[in-house]
Amino acid sequence: MFAIDGKVALITGAGQGIGARLAARLAEQGATVAVNDLRPERARAVADELNGRGLSALAAPADITDRSAIDAMVADIASRAGAVDILVNNAGIPASGVRLTPFVESDPGDWEATVRINVFGVMHCCQAVLPAMLAKGWGRIITISSDSGRTGEARMADYAAAKAAGASLMRSLAKELGASGITCNSVALGTIVTPEMGASEALEKHARRYPTRRLGRPDDVAAAVVWLASEHAGWTTGQTIPVNGGYTTV
Ligand SMILES: NC(=O)c1ccc[n+]([C@@H]2O[C@H](COP(=O)([O-])OP(=O)(O)OC[C@H]3O[C@@H](n4cnc5c(N)ncnc54)[C@H](O)[C@@H]3O)[C@@H](O)[C@H]2O)c1
Repeated sequence: MFAIDGKVALITGAGQGIGARLAARLAEQGATVAVNDLRPERARAVADELNGRGLSALAAPADITDRSAIDAMVADIASRAGAVDILVNNAGIPASGVRLTPFVESDPGDWEATVRINVFGVMHCCQAVLPAMLAKGWGRIITISSDSGRTGEARMADYAAAKAAGASLMRSLAKELGASGITCNSVALGTIVTPEMGASEALEKHARRYPTRRLGRPDDVAAAVVWLASEHAGWTTGQTIPVNGGYTTV
């Protein structure tokens, strides 16, 4: 039902974790996926694995906080696969990680890294792909946000603020671009256990705080992203879709 055959999808930060699964699911629905990551070896490994399964993928390594690198990547994807139809702004954890710290003790250097990837990175990626989407009169932009951005989170104030900004950008772009056939939405995640996180007692304890009594899986995110990327979601724009196991309900 949610086939996206023939579309070109760029997923940022897709060399591992949630992004790698989004790339796989979009490829399984018929898209050619451009697997972006700051770490070229990760992007190549994911693209190789997908191509090995007979799907269509290419590695698109670049630092999405560097506009000239983004422009070069988008041009390279266009020459190898065609212009980007679907952009998934997934990269959002800076290489330095996200530290749980009371705001009063937090390091402004950490705020900058978090804002650079989640706000400027998302804005640059959107601006880089939009001319081709506008020319085609079709496009999908999906930004991976966080429940922390909707409801706030102690000891993660910088991250929550940056994630809220990504969702806000989608609302504004939805209003600007709706008449051009381009939808812009965000997906607000609860805790998603990625293969890289593995299992731990702390995560098991955390899961008990969810109505669903389990934490999220990358496939839970992929289900929402594939729908938003498809033709069927053409009348959904400017929205923040929670995928959070019911952890927050407003
Ligand atoms: N895992 C969760 O519980 C959770 C919860 C809420 C929101 N999110 C969001 O989901 C997204 C993916 O999270 P994850 O847990 O899979 O992350 P992850 O850290 O496992 O993977 C992210 C990938 O992004 C790449 N990356 C980092 N900086 C980059 C840059 N400047 N340019 C290009 N690539 C870059 C990394 O190399 C890494 O491979 C993020 O936006 C995160 O904020 C995750």
